[in-house]
Amino acid sequence: MATSITTVAFEGIRAVPVDVQVQISPGLPRFNIVGLPDKAVGESRERVRAALIASGLALPAKHISVNLAPADLPKEGSHYDLPIALGLMAAMGAIPADMLESYFVLGELALDGRVSRVPGILPAAIAANAEEKGIICPSACGPEAAWASPDIDIIAIESLFALVNHLAGRQIAARPVPQKALAVEGEDDLSDIKGQEVARRALEIAAAGGHNFLMIGPPGAGKSMLAQRLPSILPALSPLEMLDVSMIASIAGSLRNGALSDRRPFRAPHHSASMAALVGGGHNAKPGEISLAHNGVLFLDELPEFQPQALDSLRQPLETGETVIARANAKVSYPARVQLIAAMNPCKCGMAGTPGHTCRRGDRCAADYQGRISGPFLDRIDIRIDVPAVSAADMLAGAGAGEASAAVAARVKKARDIQRARYQALGAAGTFTNAAASSRLIETVAAPDSESRALLLKAAEAFSLSARAYHRVLKVARTLADLSGSQAVQKPHIAEALSYRLNMAAS
Ligand SMILES: Nc1ncnc2c1ncn2[C@@H]1O[C@H](COP(=O)(O)OP(=O)(O)OP(=O)(O)O)[C@@H](O)[C@H]1O
Ligand SMILES: [Mg+2]
Repeated sequence: MATSITTVAFEGIRAVPVDVQVQISPGLPRFNIVGLPDKAVGESRERVRAALIASGLALPAKHISVNLAPADLPKEGSHYDLPIALGLMAAMGAIPADMLESYFVLGELALDGRVSRVPGILPAAIAANAEEKGIICPSACGPEAAWASPDIDIIAIESLFALVNHLAGRQIAARPVPQKALAVEGEDDLSDIKGQEVARRALEIAAAGGHNFLMIGPPGAGKSMLAQRLPSILPALSPLEMLDVSMIASIAGSLRNGALSDRRPFRAPHHSASMAALVGGGHNAKPGEISLAHNGVLFLDELPEFQPQALDSLRQPLETGETVIARANAKVSYPARVQLIAAMNPCKCGMAGTPGHTCRRGDRCAADYQGRISGPFLDRIDIRIDVPAVSAADMLAGAGAGEASAAVAARVKKARDIQRARYQALGAAGTFTNAAASSRLIETVAAPDSESRALLLKAAEAFSLSARAYHRVLKVARTLADLSGSQAVQKPHIAEALSYRLNMAAS
């Protein structure tokens, strides 16, 4: 008779139930695993064998078959060790099989029988809870599982031995409690930045509406510094957003100590990052940087230094808010709604446009460097500003001369609350910021009056704005109106929004 234990396989951030069927039958001693296992699953044989021996159980000298059903779904990762071991133990009669029926089981085994942490416990626990089942997982992942529901049954164990004791009622493992990561103290503050009033205003607008933002300027002007201070003015994640962000972090194995954080993610991949690192995929499907930045910020510093192909692979997710990765045997998608922040020098020598400076290669210096970024990629950036070098007078102003992050964050939060309430009232579920609003929606909520219409028409003709550019100007204008507490989008809002956009068309 075959015993069966439930575990999961991951399709994007979805956990799909997988049945681990174990049969011990007479025949030559053999241990086979079938059902599209990858290398890590195949190697689980050795870990299971050693862990069982360490726990005082030897594998019977019989034919052991393990089938992972459904057989056509690829199985990746090391979390199949524990369900396979438990299936075997149940088949050998070492533990009662019926006790395991109401659990999803995930965990990697060490040779000495310890159960080590595995990625993906949060989505697995949520899937288990949806089927009214509990979860058996490594103790290191217990706090993560506890977020799925206050009533989900969790057995978080240190070792195989501890699990046997728990099931026999000899030593009960305590139920883990959900943990929240503590706020970071002494974080970078906007008051560190001297001068740069235009850039600070643009950063505030970008934060308020979730707009994509590009800074161009000479070295040492404070571009990277500004971008790194964006998280300090962004509002905290809502509980639903936090769960969404943490599911992706859980799949990527980057949730520290199983604690969830309500801080918006801020990812700053190096410019040598490959396409797979940015959008996800590769041999084992993993979320890329753009998905790890979901509901937060993706910061691309030194933008033209990225491989042009890697940058262009971001075009589709920037538009749709999700990445779709087609693989030989499956198609997976990850959420990827991010705010893109980018910084660059105007040319290779870094100083083009600075008064009194002439590039050695003349105009070509800037044209060649900026040409590395494709037009369609630039078209997705709503706000582009020049960040000139800080003047000596500003530098001498002394520390803390600028407005602190807390004051700016309060204005950003107010503007975001207005947006959230507006889109909720309109029944646009899932839209929380102006940047994320659909074209149809933005045309309703940012309908320009006759004065603004004339201005838009003039700009569209003079600078041949694309349809996307038109909608994005309306989105920025809507944010400007929200920041100033205005119900209607007025001409000054459109004019300011256009100024951030035309900057780009002119280059
Ligand atoms: N506006 C500013 N106020 C205070 N310090 C600044 C400012 N701008 C630059 N600095 C100082 O210069 C250093 C470098 O700044 P930053 O790395 O932000 O420059 P950057 O514009 O990103 O340059 P690059 O183009 O070379 O990357 C900072 O660590 C800080 O010490
Ligand atoms: Mg920099």
